[in-house]
Amino acid sequence: MSCGAGVAASAPIRDVRSFDEGNARMITCDSLVYLPFQPTGGALACDGVSIQSIVEHAGTPTYIYSARAIRESYRAIDEAFAAYRHAIHYALKANSTLAILRLLRSLGSRADANSGGEIRVARLAGFAPDEIVFTGVGKTREELEYAIGSEVGTINAESAGELDRIAAIAGAQGRTARVAVRVNPDIDAQSHPGISTGLKTNKFGVPLQEARGIYRARRETKGLRFVGVHIHIGSQITTLDPLTRAARSLVSLALELRDDGFQLEHLDLGGGLGIAYEAQPIINPADYAAAVIPELGRSGVPVVLEPGRAVVGYSGALVARVVDTKCFPDGRKFAVLDAGMGELIRPALYGSYHRIVPVTPRSGAEIAWDIVGPICESSDVFARDRALPPLEVDDLVAILDAGAYGSVMGSNYNRHLLPAEVMVDDGAWSVIRRRQTLEDVLALES
Ligand SMILES: Cc1ncc(COP(=O)(O)O)c(C=O)c1O
Repeated sequence: MSCGAGVAASAPIRDVRSFDEGNARMITCDSLVYLPFQPTGGALACDGVSIQSIVEHAGTPTYIYSARAIRESYRAIDEAFAAYRHAIHYALKANSTLAILRLLRSLGSRADANSGGEIRVARLAGFAPDEIVFTGVGKTREELEYAIGSEVGTINAESAGELDRIAAIAGAQGRTARVAVRVNPDIDAQSHPGISTGLKTNKFGVPLQEARGIYRARRETKGLRFVGVHIHIGSQITTLDPLTRAARSLVSLALELRDDGFQLEHLDLGGGLGIAYEAQPIINPADYAAAVIPELGRSGVPVVLEPGRAVVGYSGALVARVVDTKCFPDGRKFAVLDAGMGELIRPALYGSYHRIVPVTPRSGAEIAWDIVGPICESSDVFARDRALPPLEVDDLVAILDAGAYGSVMGSNYNRHLLPAEVMVDDGAWSVIRRRQTLEDVLALES
């Protein structure tokens, strides 16, 4: 059955964007963003490689990534900070598939790991221990023992108690751990509440006003060497003001600590730069650098950046197949995909918006579709009332801007299997993660 033009349940929502068609760059605010998924010859392609031809071999659902998009996004941040000593520690939590990490490492990136597992994956991808910062609000004793034993570059401590545990473990290992304290400045990142981390109601870091005392009280503690200060106020931040205020707070603390005799090696500003999921104005990395470099310059201390989403967000699409269509008497039309919240949970978790496009659009008037997944939860919805051409069973659709916080948040709910992942690079594609099998999942069970 197909759902043709009919009465829309409510006004369709259109993906309005301003494109520089020639080079597939989206113009958002005054920044140019490279968008890898563009129509080529009437069907969607990734960097010119046909999506249809990829999924004929790889199947659906599949994540497809553009290596070029990752390179371009990384370089935009790196070049923006060229005038100031900096290190980019890509945040693995956004996407830690090994091939993506290896690509980023080849560009000069370092790593921000949020768990013992992410440290291990970073090491497997080739990052040296001293290129890794270890963040995370609930580090276990085992994770700390592993991080300290591996001599990771910096452990960003989340509390005074954690610092004391680090000191005890380092002492027992006969080592000195390099540490920074993550401060919570009580700044509203003006992002989604679920991904804001810098308010006093959030669980992250130590209150800014207590940080100096925490450093001072442990200045002579055996096993600790204070090498930095850390802040991260949230993700998908699209206005400069909170980020600038956060940088200012961090630099002021660093100057106080310098007065106290601490010799800091870096100021870690965290990540947070947003991407234009809905063609909204976003922060150009050059504007971000221009806003925070004068603040950083007051200290002269090198900066560490931990971007995740802004590096990989645009690079990925989740390609899925329509497995059913339904028209309800009130006019509501559903297209049910073979991918759902188990593959990409952001819309169900945060109500996040993703552009959705048919891989080979059918002719006919656009109508309002509810694009939903197969999971037995009413929240398993990718989009409501989305204006799209007619859709039929077996059509392919691509859910765009899914490179960050997509595959990493996958689950086996309803015993769905994790999708394959493919990378397109220089006109060719390869599987960078094979599709999970039921045997893979059941291997853990007795
Ligand atoms: C400590 C820390 N650093 C970096 C990041 C990466 O953030 P984003 O992907 O928004 O750049 C996160 C994510 O929330 C984080 O918690």
